[in-house]
Amino acid sequence: MTTVTLQADQRLVTLDAGNGPAHFPLIWLRDNAPEGFHPQTEERLFDLTSVPLDLSAEGARVEGETLVIDWDGDTSSRFDLAALMKVRPGSRRSDPAHIAPVTWRSDLGAGGIPRVSANAVMSDDAALQGWLASTRCYGISIVEGLADTTEAGMDVARRIGFLRETNFGVTFEVISKPNPNNLAYTPVALPLHTDLTNQEVPPGFQFLHCLANEATGGGSLFSDGYAIAEDLRQQDPEAFKLLSEVSIPFRFHDDSCDIRGRKHVITLNEDGEVTEFCFNAHLADVLDLDPEVMVPYYAAYRRIMEMTRDPKYLVTLKLKAGEMVVFDNRRALHGRQSFDPSTGRRHLHGCYVDRGEFDSRLRLLAR
Ligand code: OGA
Ligand code: ZN
Repeated sequence: MTTVTLQADQRLVTLDAGNGPAHFPLIWLRDNAPEGFHPQTEERLFDLTSVPLDLSAEGARVEGETLVIDWDGDTSSRFDLAALMKVRPGSRRSDPAHIAPVTWRSDLGAGGIPRVSANAVMSDDAALQGWLASTRCYGISIVEGLADTTEAGMDVARRIGFLRETNFGVTFEVISKPNPNNLAYTPVALPLHTDLTNQEVPPGFQFLHCLANEATGGGSLFSDGYAIAEDLRQQDPEAFKLLSEVSIPFRFHDDSCDIRGRKHVITLNEDGEVTEFCFNAHLADVLDLDPEVMVPYYAAYRRIMEMTRDPKYLVTLKLKAGEMVVFDNRRALHGRQSFDPSTGRRHLHGCYVDRGEFDSRLRLLAR
């Protein structure tokens, strides 16, 4: 039995189903009344400016499983009580895509990276859902058993959602090529980094399908930016503050583009949780900070760069043909050892799927 109280002076309705009172401001109830939403699209049609902020109600009552509010005038709204309690103010709406991250360090080992077979994720929604959830949780996974075609890995990515096109194309070939416009397209070592930090929004999940890895060298490196950030928060709060509050410029340019953006190395949400790690020394532009911030910033930036080199955070592996590594490019850092192209072929085929598409698929699979 739910009790309802209308506190007209406070413009508040309080419901209590025996598990503590839930408070609903009248303006909120009016804005979220079911009749204000389109019956098919479920988008809000109600215009908030059509009512005064201090609107009042004549009465509030519970009829069975329904809350009825009689507004001043002759309109009333009816709310399903159970649905209303699920979105009570002060509680975040539950979200199947909200998967708490589990941070990892070197002790995860290559063997600890979640693995799934390409066949399973292509043919079975439950396998797809489980794989997406563990990739969200750890920020990294490996798909194995891919066909030896450049499309095989991309088809797995498309099973999640639209591919994110960038200046490197919808998909890209990581091979050593003549006249490279990107260090990835050379045989040199790539220290741990995140991709395209120069973009307005760096791509979310990255897919690197290994078609050949026969050259000497060419091993892959990974670390968890969230773990590095959390350790920095404990060890050097001042450095953590600078890296999360001061933005720095990034830039990529070649003959056909000049793409620039400012980023914080560490992004926090309003609860102070780390939600992004953005680090790429090759793409960092000339730092333009005020002189009094520059030196302390360099201390913080160099400190976190040292942490990215610390074996404590490092997981290494050598991708085999038919494997694809998938990672959250706004969380996990990736890199590679140099390789000798004269000793054999090395060919990765890559693409990105943004976090929004990824999370949408998780929600659809949870329906
Ligand atoms: C890249 C990259 C890693 C590799 O293309 O951005 O980091 O293993 N490649 O070649
Ligand atoms: Zn990269």
